[in-house]
Amino acid sequence: MLSFQGENILSVNQLDRDCIERIFTVAKNMEPYAKKQKCTKVLDGAILANLFFEPSTRTRVSFGTAFNLLGGGVRETTGMQSSALAKGESLYDTARVISAYADAVAMRHPDAGSVAEFSSGCDVPVINGGDGANEHPTQALLDLLTIERELTRFGGNIDGMHIALVGDLRYGRTVHSLSKLLCHYKNVKFSMVAPDGLQMPDSILSAVEDAGHQIKLVNQMQGNLAADIVYQTRIQEERFPSQEEANKYRGGFRISQSIYNTHCKPNSVLMHPLPRDSRIEANELDNDLNANDNLAIFRQVQNGVLIRMALFALTLGVENKVQQYEVDVPWFSRKRDS
Ligand code: NCD
Repeated sequence: MLSFQGENILSVNQLDRDCIERIFTVAKNMEPYAKKQKCTKVLDGAILANLFFEPSTRTRVSFGTAFNLLGGGVRETTGMQSSALAKGESLYDTARVISAYADAVAMRHPDAGSVAEFSSGCDVPVINGGDGANEHPTQALLDLLTIERELTRFGGNIDGMHIALVGDLRYGRTVHSLSKLLCHYKNVKFSMVAPDGLQMPDSILSAVEDAGHQIKLVNQMQGNLAADIVYQTRIQEERFPSQEEANKYRGGFRISQSIYNTHCKPNSVLMHPLPRDSRIEANELDNDLNANDNLAIFRQVQNGVLIRMALFALTLGVENKVQQYEVDVPWFSRKRDS
């Protein structure tokens, strides 16, 4: 389906199960470098343009970290106002310009379809870091890798699992991309747990149904969290027509340790793409869950670096040369033994 080298990663629709498994294999090979057991210089001299026109902490930093861990350099621009887009430059022109500087691009933008539009003017691989409420393919891949790894701990696997997607399923692009990716697996049971008005878009429900999965659409958490994976999301306030509208939903679905004990399975894995909204009136994943071993949110973050390293290695055609360019790490690192 996707040959990777020189290609853009814009949507999970480009990936079939073989592609997913190939990405996961390369990602797992990246672990010694992410843990600083070794360094690799395989992308020495290459430059990533990390273009984030919407707020981000982990996606932006992890794209940059992944490129650095492969030995490449990173140039970035953050925010619409600090870029020439604020002066009326088209995405096409920006792409032509960036092509002159960079060997790869990671991009986030508030408009659905904008990253694809940008890629039409760009000569180097473009990876979508989130385009409006549309897609977030690298997050979906890191979520899927996390699900696989978490279920394996308990002898389970993705085929046949039960996943509860909770919260803002309408505007949350991570759950859109993850649901589509799960269409490549078998007999998944979905509980779509969202308040009225924020349910999953019909196009995604149809794709999930066509893949032969079971779907339960519900508007309350009680009785609907006894799943293998409970994936909580943030109310995507920035995508609502008005703040008043968003406020109606804030804090509607909160999971605390006591809710976990009452409504989840004994080993339900708790996931969230982050950031979790920890303001007192939202508090969607309570801090009292921090000591819960099944809270996988920070393992998701670690897997994100591996996935992004894999995608850079594959799209730049160096996935088999990483070891050849390896060097020892002389400096102290806590990560090495963790
Ligand atoms: C998500 C996003 O930006 O879509 N965060 C992320 O990339 N890890 C989810 C969110 O902002 O709620």
